Amino acid sequence: MNTPTTGPHTDRYVVMGNPVEHSRSPWIHARFAELTGQALTYEKHLTPLDGFASTLVALRQQGVKGCNVTVPFKFEAFAAATHHTQRATLAGACNTLVLRGDEVLGDNTDGVGLVRDITVNAGVPLRGARVLLLGAGGAAAGVLGPLLDEQPRELVVCNRTPAKADALVASHAAHAKNNKCELKSHTSQALEGVFDVILNATASSLGQGDIPAPDSVLRPGALVVDMMYGPAAQPFLAWAARHGATGRDGLGMLVEQAAAAFELWRGVRPPGAQVLAELSAVLARPPQT
Ligand code: ATR
Repeated sequence: MNTPTTGPHTDRYVVMGNPVEHSRSPWIHARFAELTGQALTYEKHLTPLDGFASTLVALRQQGVKGCNVTVPFKFEAFAAATHHTQRATLAGACNTLVLRGDEVLGDNTDGVGLVRDITVNAGVPLRGARVLLLGAGGAAAGVLGPLLDEQPRELVVCNRTPAKADALVASHAAHAKNNKCELKSHTSQALEGVFDVILNATASSLGQGDIPAPDSVLRPGALVVDMMYGPAAQPFLAWAARHGATGRDGLGMLVEQAAAAFELWRGVRPPGAQVLAELSAVLARPPQT
């Protein structure tokens, strides 16, 4: 169904970030709205680094119905929410807010987006798998709960600063037990054996830093996901390819976290896989001069 995305009952949504210029979210949500016939607008908001809370108040007063929140505001978004979903509480951070009168519901759809991209779009089961999560910052915290929900056999968190991996494991220990998953932290020197799924949630690719894991963790056919997309993901994915593993960047996670936010706001599930294919084609096109 293709119907106009604006009309007399058009709702307004924004993505708050700094920087935010690069964000693909307006494109993704505009396409979701078109494909599901929802009347909405979605725009970027360059939020001052010291002005998240006051900007959120202003957006609420202007009648904005919901926000996505990106770097560096996910923790402030959690603090600003009056209610939280269970997965947001586990992550301690929010990427999605629903604004209803004085209430602000905080959710985190990053983890379910990643899980859906792996299990549905890539078709790789996490249940029973041996999973390696590299990094223990905000990006890793945002996805760990939903990864555990899939009941992997074992999940190892590995981080340059081991104390942060230990803390992340401790805060998710009960959730891991409920899901019958053996959750551990290891330094990269202590990693043993190969993994079925390897996830890069470190910021190392951004700085073209060293690969944060030894070659010995890879096996041919393993799935290796970098949560970044575009050039930032390439060193990690090239490393995976050299060892016969299948690389996947974070574009699918980006689209699927947006799909989960859209569903929360609108009560309608947009076609994530279709929009991922379309966005990949757009990004693969040479830039217009
Ligand atoms: P984000 O919200 O993107 O997760 P963050 O909270 O600053 O950002 O976390 C960045 C993560 O990338 C951390 O796990 C960090 O490791 P430390 O905890 O040791 O700082 C990791 N990281 C950043 N640069 C790295 C590099 N060059 N090699 C390995 N890990 C790196």
